Formats: sequence, C-alpha cells, structure tokens
Amino acid sequence: MKNKGYFITFEGADGCGKTTQSELVQKYLEDKGFEVVWTREPGAKGLGQNIRQLLLHYDGDVAPMCEAFLFLADRAQHIEHLIKPAVAAGKIVVCDRHTDSTIAYQGYGRGEDIGQLKYLNNLATGAIKPDLTFVFDVSTEVAQTRVGSEKDRMESAGIEFHKKVRQGYLEIAKQEPERVKVVDANNSIEKVFEDTKKILDAFLNQ
Ligand code: TYD
Repeated sequence: MKNKGYFITFEGADGCGKTTQSELVQKYLEDKGFEVVWTREPGAKGLGQNIRQLLLHYDGDVAPMCEAFLFLADRAQHIEHLIKPAVAAGKIVVCDRHTDSTIAYQGYGRGEDIGQLKYLNNLATGAIKPDLTFVFDVSTEVAQTRVGSEKDRMESAGIEFHKKVRQGYLEIAKQEPERVKVVDANNSIEKVFEDTKKILDAFLNQ
C-alpha cells in the first residue's frame, strides 16, 4: 500500500533558520524511509524561477498588490505542478514558505487586507492547506544579524517591517494552533532541530 502524502510548510521571518531546519527534516524523514520532496516559494522551478527573480531583485517601485499577486501566481503554478502531484503520489512535501508568508509579509508587514489575502491564497491553492506548519520564531535583532549585509529586496524592507512580520506569524499561530506550531529559533541549530523533531514525531504518530 502506498504511504499517505503530507504537505509540511516551514515559515518565519528572514534569518529565522527555517531553511536549515527544513533540510534537516528532509534528511530525518528520508532516513525513516519516507519519500520526501523539498521545495520552496517563491520560485521552486520553471516559470516560478522567473517570478522569483522579479520579486527579489527588481529594483524599481513595486505596488504592494503587484507584489502579492506575483507571490500568488508563483504559488498557483507550484501547487498545480509540484505539490499536488507529489502529495497524491504518497510523498511528503517539505516546503520552505507558502501561504502564511503572504499573510505575514504582505498582510501584517505591508498592511494589505488580510481577509482579501486569505481569499486570494485560497484561490491560488485550490483550497489545499498544509497538514502541518512550523513557524520559527526569533527576535528581529538576532534574525537581522543572521541575514548578513547582502540583502535582497524583501530583506531590505527595514526592522519595523520585520517586527510586524514576526508578530504576524505569532498571530497566525494563535488563530490556527492545530496546524501551526511555533518553535523558539533563538537557540542553537541542534536544540531547534530537537524541538522540531518532537513536533514532527507527534504529528506522524497521531
Ligand atoms: P528567500 O530568499 O527565499 O528568503 P528566505 O530564505 O528567507 O525564505 O526570499 C523570499 C522572500 O520573499 C522572503 O523575504 C519572504 C518573502 N515572501 C513574501 O513576502 N511573501 C510570500 O508569499 C512569500 C512566499 C515570500
């Protein structure tokens, strides 16, 4: 019998360490015998990579809703071409950023209407939701030092913006405690991974 597929997302402000954790989780799950697909937004592959280039490196003015629609366009392509088929084939999709990034960054960060963004997220994904979401929570000051000095367009948005993004994630977790689990990411990589594994094991064993 084929395994049941799962869709697991990794979220948090820039510099929270989620990419490192998602890669550790991929390896951990593969060692347990699961078939895992690691992917990310924006720009997993194909057309999405062109959208990613625009989103992160275009250096003119970008209207907030244009930015939102580009992330959503990438998501629609990603869900249809990669995430849905992989989950249907019984794989575990480990995805670095997804719908909650739009709510945290474009909604809480940029101030766009959160109800509308939720509606648009739903349209883009065909209402497919992650089975489990990790939010790696780190103080904005620590996160900024991790990002370093070579910043892309989003990372350059300023400390006040990133504080709002962080609060946005905590708010999302409060609203959906079953799906969204917060991990304290101020700790070492090893400790954060221990905490992540506990949540993951509990999810897989339920
Ligand atoms: P990326 O280089 O992938 O950063 P990270 O390693 O932190 O994930 O850049 C993605 C940037 O795009 C990041 O700053 C978050 C932002 N973003 C949004 O603003 N909205 C979205 O819907 C998504 C998916 C990402």
